[in-house]
Parts: sequence; C-alpha cells; structure tokens
Amino acid sequence: MPVTTRSTDPTAPLPRFPADFVWGASTASYQIEGAPDEDGKGPSIWDTFVRRPGAIRDGHTGDVACDHYHRVDEDVALMRRLGLDAYRFSLAWPRVLPTGAGKVEPRGLDFYDRLVDALLAAGIEPTPTLFHWDLPQALEDEGGWLNRDTAHRFAEYAAVAAERLGDRVKRWITLNEPFVHMSFGYGFGVHAPGRALLLGALPVAHHQLLGHGLAARAVREAVPGAQVLIANNCTPVRLRSDAAAEGDRAAAEAYDILHNRLFNDPLLIGRYPDLSAYGMTDPTWGGVVRDGDLQTISAPLDGLGVNYYNPSWITAPADPAAGLPFDLAEPEEAYERTSFGWPVVPDGLTELLTGLRARYGDALPPVWITESGCAQPAGLDDRARIDYLAGHLDALARAAAQGVDVRGYFTWSLLDNFEWAEGFHQRFGLVEVDFATGGRTPRASYAWYRRLIASQRS
Ligand code: FCB
Repeated sequence: MPVTTRSTDPTAPLPRFPADFVWGASTASYQIEGAPDEDGKGPSIWDTFVRRPGAIRDGHTGDVACDHYHRVDEDVALMRRLGLDAYRFSLAWPRVLPTGAGKVEPRGLDFYDRLVDALLAAGIEPTPTLFHWDLPQALEDEGGWLNRDTAHRFAEYAAVAAERLGDRVKRWITLNEPFVHMSFGYGFGVHAPGRALLLGALPVAHHQLLGHGLAARAVREAVPGAQVLIANNCTPVRLRSDAAAEGDRAAAEAYDILHNRLFNDPLLIGRYPDLSAYGMTDPTWGGVVRDGDLQTISAPLDGLGVNYYNPSWITAPADPAAGLPFDLAEPEEAYERTSFGWPVVPDGLTELLTGLRARYGDALPPVWITESGCAQPAGLDDRARIDYLAGHLDALARAAAQGVDVRGYFTWSLLDNFEWAEGFHQRFGLVEVDFATGGRTPRASYAWYRRLIASQRS
C-alpha cells in the first residue's frame, strides 16, 4: 500500500523538522572509492573477497566503483547543490595504515584531509565512519575481529585519524553495523572475510564493541568537543501472523536479542542480554568478555546511529537441529518491494524508534538515522524512491512526536555504488552513476530531497 503520493503531487505537504535538524547523505569507502592500490593503500578483506569465484554477483568488484577517489570535487559539488548539512562517508583503514598497524601512509590521510576541506568549503559537516567493513587484509590474516588484538589496532588507527582530522571534524562514527559484519562476514560468509562460522562468529560482536569503546576513548582524547556515535543496524521484530504460537514468540525474542540487543544493550546499559537461546550461559563467553570490557563499551555515547531498512518477520525454526533458534520468514501482508526485494515498511521506523525509547528510557542518547533508503531500477524518474523517502520521513516525524529525540537523517545513498555481494545491481543513489563512464546524473529524488531540505530552511 503506497503511503503517500508525494512523487506525483508536488503540492503535497512536506514533513517539517526542527530548524537545527541535520540533513545528510551516506556512502562508504569500498562502495565508492575505487583506487584499491593507489597512493600506498594496502589490500582490504573486500579486495580479497571480491576475487573469490562466485562471491559477488556477475564477478563485479570495487576496483573502480564510482571512481570517487578521482572525482571528489565533482561529488562534493553534487552535495553542495543538494544542500546537505552533513555527509557521512567512511575512511578506508588500509589507506591510512596499509597493514592495519604500524606504518602510517601519509598519502591516504592526505586524501581524507582534502575531502574534509572540500566539504567544509561547501558548508557541509564531515561525518566520518572509521570502519565500514574494509578491514586491512593483514589484520584478517591474524584472525580479523575474531582476534581481540584487532580492537586495540582499531583504537590506534582511530587515534591517527582523529589527530589528523580532529581540528576540523567533530562528529565521528566508530563502526558501521557490527551485527551485519558479524553475521554476513563471519557467520554466513556472504560478505568479506567470507567465513561461515555460524555461532562461532559471536566473539566478533564483542571484539567490535570493545574496539568501539577503545576508539571512542581515543577520539575523545584527541579531539576536544568530539561527538562519538556508532551506526547500528536495527530492525523491529515482528511475528509472522497473529496466530503465532508460543514457539514463534520465543523465536522472535531470540532474534531480537541477536540482531538488536546484543549490540544496543552493552552500549547503552553496560551488559549483554541473556544468550541462553544460543546455548551460551557463561557470562564471559568462554573468556572472551573480560573484566572492564563492558565499562569501556558502555561509556556514554553522544548519539546512537540507526540504520533502518525493514522489519524482520520471525517464526519458530522448522528444523531446531539446524542450529539457530529462529527462522526468518516472509510477511503475510503484500508490501511494496524495492528492487532488492526488501519490503517497504515506513511505520517500522516509528515502531523501531519508539521501541528503543521504551526499552532504554533515558539511557537512549539522541538518535541519528545514519542510513535509510532503497534500491530502485536504473533510470532518472525514481518516483518510488521519493515515496520511500517521504514515507520514512513521515514515520520519523511520528517517532519524534512521540518523544524520541531525533537529530538528523542521512539517506543511503548519495550515489549508486557497489552493493557488496550484489555488485552494481542494486541502485540506491539519489544520483545515477554510469559505471562504464563514471558519469553522474541526478535523479528526480535528488531534486525532491533538495526541495525538502530547502523547505526546512524557509
Ligand atoms: C547497509 C550497509 C550499507 C549499504 C546498505 C544498503 O547494511 O551499511 O553499506 O550497503 O545496507
């Protein structure tokens, strides 16, 4: 059921947000930059993984992607014309430290230095993410995030980046979606580093969170007045049907624990949820969680970044012996779908945010939507994307009206880009990219978002 007709009716009212609300767009290094070995950059796990036969649809790679490394000025000009207040991008760790630790590559830092200066000159606040999944391959060779040392290497890298950019960059995001990196990268092996450990991936959650806590401390030490956030992928968990049985409810709770609470609870209330549904009763996870770690992880955040795409529908596992205490199901309702096949459910965003507020109360810091957007077919007349954005912004305004403190909205994404295992097949951009020529063409949704931002200032 379409929630608005905003795309076809230009007079339809636009949602209204406070004057200081931050309007942004997001990207990530491996998805846009290209230049995988330029200026001394070391290989990342994505440079390795894309070469694994069958890993990426049609064998696509991010070797060129949007060629953003060579087109920064053009891309910042697109952002300026769009009227963005802030731009969320990520730093490629192996550009800054080619082997993940030790020797710093000044040319890698110079690239981000120029980007930051160009953004500031355009009146756009740089909002870097320190880790959006492109781990230096040298660290993966030592076990990646299964190895506790990676958390310490992450903090050292964060300090290097913060010392160089912190005179101009005040808002920092440590990690992007530690749940997705753990489950897709280490649990199921469909993302880099391509390890299929199922529940053996759980230490990756703790080590990433520890890395977050140590990096947050390093950024705060280096940058007076820094704001530190993390971007978590969160999903409202729904039962598949009203006729759900007790087993379905238990499965839904187990899923909520794995996807949402495993990451939000330690950050916001300093403890892990009950993992007994996953066969884990030892609070130290067999020595993984050490004394003091939860204090480090739960140092107050300046904001919680929330990446929202859709709810999850859960049933009891058809085969409990298969290893997981839930099954992911399709909803009974016939939702509109994006070209990725993801259901379009704007009210899930209201449900998610009011649910976070209900669960964490005053322990919930201000919320930033750090990703929200949809894949649509190629082409410039992307009305479905406009409806998607309008519907989700209405849903966000409803959450704010119900008491959730929301400070900003970053749409995913500025540009069509390399969508991980889907290669270039899923187009999330306000700007269409011709991957053969690198040409950029703003879509109808770009014009709509521009008008929306401008309307908030009048
Ligand atoms: C999120 C990722 C982002 C992008 C969107 C579609 O999970 O953080 O890089 O791929 O999905």
